[in-house]
Amino acid sequence: MTLLLGVGFAGSSVAAPGDTENGEQIYYKRCLACHGEDGDGLGPAAERLNPPPRDFSSGQYKIMSTAFDEMVPQDDDIFRMIAEGMPGTAMPGWSDILSQQEMWDLVAYIKVFAGYDEEEPGPLVDYGTQVASSPESIARGDELFHESDRCSECHGESGKGDAIKGLKDDNGERTWPRNLTKPWTFRGSNSPKDIYARVSAGIPGTQMPSFADPDSTKVLTIEDRWHVANYVESLAAGTERVNPDNTVIKAGRAEGGIPTSWDDPAWGSAPASTFMLVPQIIAKQRHFTPSNDTVTVRAVYDDEQIAILVEWDDRTRSIPGDEKAEKISNPDISEDSVAIQLPIEIPEGMEKPYFGMGDASHPVNIWQWKSGTAETSSSVHLMNGQGFEDIEQREADSIQVAATGAYNNGTWRVVFTRPLVTTETDKDIQFQEGVFIPIAFAAWDGSASEAGSQHTMTTWYWLSLQSSSGSRPFFIALLAALLVAGLLYFWVRSARPQ
Ligand code: HEC
Ligand code: HEC
Repeated sequence: MTLLLGVGFAGSSVAAPGDTENGEQIYYKRCLACHGEDGDGLGPAAERLNPPPRDFSSGQYKIMSTAFDEMVPQDDDIFRMIAEGMPGTAMPGWSDILSQQEMWDLVAYIKVFAGYDEEEPGPLVDYGTQVASSPESIARGDELFHESDRCSECHGESGKGDAIKGLKDDNGERTWPRNLTKPWTFRGSNSPKDIYARVSAGIPGTQMPSFADPDSTKVLTIEDRWHVANYVESLAAGTERVNPDNTVIKAGRAEGGIPTSWDDPAWGSAPASTFMLVPQIIAKQRHFTPSNDTVTVRAVYDDEQIAILVEWDDRTRSIPGDEKAEKISNPDISEDSVAIQLPIEIPEGMEKPYFGMGDASHPVNIWQWKSGTAETSSSVHLMNGQGFEDIEQREADSIQVAATGAYNNGTWRVVFTRPLVTTETDKDIQFQEGVFIPIAFAAWDGSASEAGSQHTMTTWYWLSLQSSSGSRPFFIALLAALLVAGLLYFWVRSARPQ
């Protein structure tokens, strides 16, 4: 499958001739709900989608390898968006559901809405000669990216999309510059060739401009566009990624006291675990470009205390009451926030508490940090939950739950600390070495209308305090996982045709 797609993308001439009539039938079944009967993007499911489904009658396409001053995309471009979908938007990929031919039929059909069935695609972006990535090329790209704020103006100093201004697309919809350190959010890919095409053609209909346009004051030569592309690709190198096999945060033992700030070198030795954040409320005000899509966690402990460092990318530091912050926020700004959820009683074996905020037989502790407003500093909150409706507010000080946060170039880093044991043993989790402790996280982007029960969250994972003598349960679990993985590997290999 991948191979076939690869061939399709390599050039624009391999497009199989599509059958418009068949395309129409598939369109009615699969695409109409969002893109509408007339291809105008006004299907019944389109309401509230941001970005909205494409209006095919406008003839505007975003992910094109056609030169910036031309409208008509390559057939390959359209095919690819249908096959792969557009990450971070409601546009799904169809390659698992539709055959190659069916997707070409769709290409033929949707071109009709703008009369593109009767026009030749515009000329390709001029790729010149690709400059291979190298430390020198990346360094040059870094310079060009920041020179006169060429890209950093919108994508931020470190490329995390922590824009300094509110951006709207041509339809007046709120748009966010891409967080370039997270390649899985790219609508195209983060291969240098793809980035080169986006930088050259721009993303029509959005504020992402073309840097091949000679009228642009920030125009780049072909060679310089390759340097920038190599630099942008390199931004993903340091990004912590979700590893679906990793479900355990391993807390190491700290020598010489636990760290209380995020930049303490002691964190260096703590392994990072990165988890997916998913929206808690799927209902109204769905926004498909949540800045908070992953959270990275590290933990260490000593004889007395545990410290947990939670990091996540957020494009906006949301400060209610601050004029600048309110300018780039949605109208109803609230504080940024993060919370940790832990069961009060560590379950036997591997039973996890109820997915929500605990239930009557599985009460949970919630530690929440809030970023503060123009008038108030950040704050720490302690709650006990037995379900969404049954939340008891407690004094965080009473059991010494503490938290400090810092925002830097598009990333929040918050350190929570707490003594391992408390006096209220029936109300608080008592941390122990060598057992699996369920743990879950939630985050709020206050500039994107996230407050109260509207937020993103992880599912339950495990926290394990690794005693220095080695943790038996962990190794047993690991061994079991490895055995299963090994068997699977063997099975997949032997099942594969030679
Ligand atoms: C659940 C809603 C939904 C469905 C169903 C859907 N789309 Fe989309 N589609 C979108 C959205 C939203 C966008 C715009 C994404 C953006 O602007 O970044 C989009 C964009 C596109 C684009 C534009 C690509 C570009 O580069 O601008 C194409 C082509 C497309 N869809 C084809 C299809 C086809 C063909 C089908 C049916 C097989 C389909 N879509 C089904 C939501 C949907
Ligand atoms: C005026 C603001 C602005 C400037 C300047 C800008 N961008 Fe963007 N960029 C955006 C926006 C907005 C998007 C997201 C568009 C969308 O909604 O899909 C984006 C998206 C991107 C993407 C994502 C492509 C994909 O496949 O998803 C890349 C890569 C990118 N920009 C690179 C750059 C580079 C490199 C520069 C400088 C040479 C630059 N941008 C300058 C606003 C800007």
